[in-house]
Amino acid sequence: MPNDVKLLQILDWDSPRQNARLRDELATGLLRPQAYIAPKFFYDALGSRLFEAITELPEYYPTRTEAVIFRDFLPAIRDGLGENFTLIDLGCGSCAKAGKLFHAGVLPRRYVAVDISVEFLRDSLQNLKREFPAIDMLGLGLDFTEELRLPDDLPLERRVYFYPGSSIGNFSPPDAGRFLTGLAARMDRSGGLLIGVDLVKDKALLDAAYDDPLGVTAAFNRNLLRHVNARLDADFAIGDWQHVAFYNIESARIEMHLEARRALTVSWPEENGSRSRSFAKGERVHTENSWKYSPDGFATLLGNAGFTEIQVWTDPRRWFALFFARKAA
Ligand code: AVJ
Repeated sequence: MPNDVKLLQILDWDSPRQNARLRDELATGLLRPQAYIAPKFFYDALGSRLFEAITELPEYYPTRTEAVIFRDFLPAIRDGLGENFTLIDLGCGSCAKAGKLFHAGVLPRRYVAVDISVEFLRDSLQNLKREFPAIDMLGLGLDFTEELRLPDDLPLERRVYFYPGSSIGNFSPPDAGRFLTGLAARMDRSGGLLIGVDLVKDKALLDAAYDDPLGVTAAFNRNLLRHVNARLDADFAIGDWQHVAFYNIESARIEMHLEARRALTVSWPEENGSRSRSFAKGERVHTENSWKYSPDGFATLLGNAGFTEIQVWTDPRRWFALFFARKAA
């Protein structure tokens, strides 16, 4: 089997130091007055699969709309990327978007697939390598929202950061600015950034995209508790928690929460004993924000983060935008 992909697992729950740190992060969030668990904890292997299912829902327009933009503006995208580039795919998931680009003849010399969901990443990348054995492939299992650690021997020239799907929306706008500034610091003018951004739109469309009648998004949200139970040895009773998702117009963001259906207490062990958090009926754990932008607003964010030559493509309904930009001189 030609599955000779290199995989570097930097995020490792089995490493005692990292494990302690992640457990600490989870416990700190749970004990805050407004309980919070970061969206990166959605992505265990099942969570990654549930997200793939979300992308097939009729109500979840981002993936489909972004694919139309890729199809419609392929020549311009190809021009921007050039040749012999290194494609660095941030949160590659199934690697399907990169695969589509490759099938369309947009072929990098090197493909670096980064994802927090390490097992899922391994399978996705092995499948892609089978289809495109000539591309040099490397998998990086790490949490790039914490720190994007790239191998020292990865050339700086012609790095194209690929951040599709509007995952940038999980950062608050100031954090997104800082993250993009960090990308600019890890590239030169021969490369670029290809990034998908979901746009502000009618609230009813947004609400439906994040609260589908089939309940797939609810399962994705509640699966986070399964993951936390496994990692923190916590005792969340999944059935006690209800999916809540809505578009917050003032903040221009989707909010996802898990709401306690009754008064309850969640416990988990800690070094010397155990910790617990009580929730009143109706109290929520905030699990995700997904910010939406205007094309101009996001272009400004890119400019302030050190990018220039900003190009933007949208679909006819202007639901989603794809940006390509270079590092400013
Ligand atoms: C993977 C962050 C782009 O915000 O639309 C989908 C995650 N959450 N449905 C998004 C998500 C609920 C998704 N991103």
